[in-house]
Amino acid sequence: MSARQVELEGEVYYPPQEVIQQAVLKDWDALAEFAQRDLEGFWAKEAEELVWFQKWEKVLDASQAPFYKWFVGGKVNIAYNAVDRHLLTFRKNKLALIWEAEDGKSERTFSYYALNREVNRMANIIKSMGVGKGDRVTIYMGRIPEIVFAMLACAKIGAIHSVVFGGFSVDALQGRIADSESKLVITCDGAYQNGKLVELKRIVDEALKHCPTVENVIVVKRTGHDVPMESMRDHWYHDMCALPIANGKCPTEEMDAEDPLFILYTSGSTGKPKAILHTHGGYMVGTYATLKYVFDINDEDRFWCTADPGWITGHSYLVYGPFLNGATVFMFEGGPAYPYPNRWWQLIERFGITIFYTAPTAIRGLMRFGEAWPNKHDLSSLRLLGTVGEPINPEAWKWFYRVIGKERCPIMDTWWQTETGAFMITPTPVVPLKPGSGTRPFFGQVAEIVDEQGNPVPDGSEGYLVLTRPWPSMLRTIYKDPERYVSQYWSKYPGKYMTGDSARRDKDGYFWIIGRVDDVIKVSGHRLGTAEIESALITHPAVAESAAIGLPHEVKGQAIYCFVQLKPGFAPSEELGEELRQHVARHMGPIARPEEVRFIDKLPKTRSGKIMRRVLKARAQGLPEGDLSTLEE
Ligand code: WTA
Repeated sequence: MSARQVELEGEVYYPPQEVIQQAVLKDWDALAEFAQRDLEGFWAKEAEELVWFQKWEKVLDASQAPFYKWFVGGKVNIAYNAVDRHLLTFRKNKLALIWEAEDGKSERTFSYYALNREVNRMANIIKSMGVGKGDRVTIYMGRIPEIVFAMLACAKIGAIHSVVFGGFSVDALQGRIADSESKLVITCDGAYQNGKLVELKRIVDEALKHCPTVENVIVVKRTGHDVPMESMRDHWYHDMCALPIANGKCPTEEMDAEDPLFILYTSGSTGKPKAILHTHGGYMVGTYATLKYVFDINDEDRFWCTADPGWITGHSYLVYGPFLNGATVFMFEGGPAYPYPNRWWQLIERFGITIFYTAPTAIRGLMRFGEAWPNKHDLSSLRLLGTVGEPINPEAWKWFYRVIGKERCPIMDTWWQTETGAFMITPTPVVPLKPGSGTRPFFGQVAEIVDEQGNPVPDGSEGYLVLTRPWPSMLRTIYKDPERYVSQYWSKYPGKYMTGDSARRDKDGYFWIIGRVDDVIKVSGHRLGTAEIESALITHPAVAESAAIGLPHEVKGQAIYCFVQLKPGFAPSEELGEELRQHVARHMGPIARPEEVRFIDKLPKTRSGKIMRRVLKARAQGLPEGDLSTLEE
């Protein structure tokens, strides 16, 4: 369906001629056809564009599906491809990373040459703490360049990083450090969030009271405020940098293509967050190729992905994907509207951003401040826009297209997940767009919409979204829990990967994502699980039982509502509701603060004791409660 102006159903936006002419991808159809016909051939061709210490023997090994293996026998290191290999080219002196502080008072830039030096230094220091191949390192930091160095440094020495979003708090952090059995934590003294200080190091101290595996903590100085340092365990990064061991090149570990690169905790249906595991080889090829084709990235670009490195989008498209492509990455410490709602637009103008990738929630939030804010700025450097994380409503899509992109920048609405590692359903710049649809599956991919039994539903009907072919950047397992990997993703429809989303496909083959069908809540694009919120609530002395649900919210997409059954002796009150909201924020992190806590005499449950969230959702919205036959007396 490439550049050819075919007739499509509904409202369609065709790509401008300049975009088509410039795009690395000329013929969408031809490449799509090749990848469909020869999946392994397509991915092998992409992999050949990167450097392998030893070439693979087999592209795909499906003999133990769903434990798929990619580039079997290959030796590689993603960090080598993201950094070292560029030093042998003109990119050596090209800007790799431009960073701006939230308050705008400092700006740091790193060429690929400098990035390499920083990664080596961090790698030497991590190694000096006895961390090696296969060891886990938890990274819990604000959005500063050192978080990028830390991730790449772990990759370089073959350690497995586990980045925990800096917006999470003690309980969430502790659970993740403990489950990963990390030896080392890398953090900073604090971070800035809308002008306020978040005391990351103190949160780490609190969490480490129950994490016996952690031997050392590296602390990067960002804010300079006073923090307690435990002797022997805690080390200032700048002090370590001054030691001789920090200098010089750190050897790059030759990894098996299938060796783990990182784990990233994410929420699924009921239960603890699960550690999604990605590998050096497949993840590298997947993030490299998707970014190349979808954002058409080239050496003139300045790419800005507003995501935090603590989420998969930050991993794949703030760190690995762009550096693998040798791009110039812009990273901003702060949020969209601090101190004023033009902060982002000002940055686009000042740094000449060409590709801007963000979340629908941010667009909706900024839209509310009106067009005057972006209109103060020259946004003509932009050539492509992108969104991710949740469905984008057509109204926000059109605002983004018209007010920010000035009707010349196609919007890449990329659907994917922590588990998929890279874009799965996505446009490319040469494809006609429909506001609210991620268009069609990426090259080589096949998506289907099926019913409860796994049978395809007719076009236009809603059903479960499944993926039917393996892809290189797919999760390999849930760390330490392979059974859960199989049961969660592959057992409902054997041979098909269950995404957990509902969707429909239109007559033109375009996919429209509707939302999660499990207990995941997408709050401002952040993926949270009801189970974690509920277990935070239950630690409060007044709470007997609770249920968290997501309800539609104009800006956040979804907001958290909690229903609480109190213990005898406690009475509902506005103050208690407020206290419980704070309680969740303190334990889980401010992003998990419920919009509202409602008190309920008895939670609706099935006879087998499962909370009927569906009933709570309907009640909260004043909608019909549906079939109640399974409700307990
Ligand atoms: C949702 C984020 C609609 C979806 C990369 C998915 C989207 C979940 C889109 C994964 C999109 C992500 N349109 N919905 N473009 N992108 N989602 O793991 O429900 O944080 O299952 O990965 O986000 O969230 P995760």
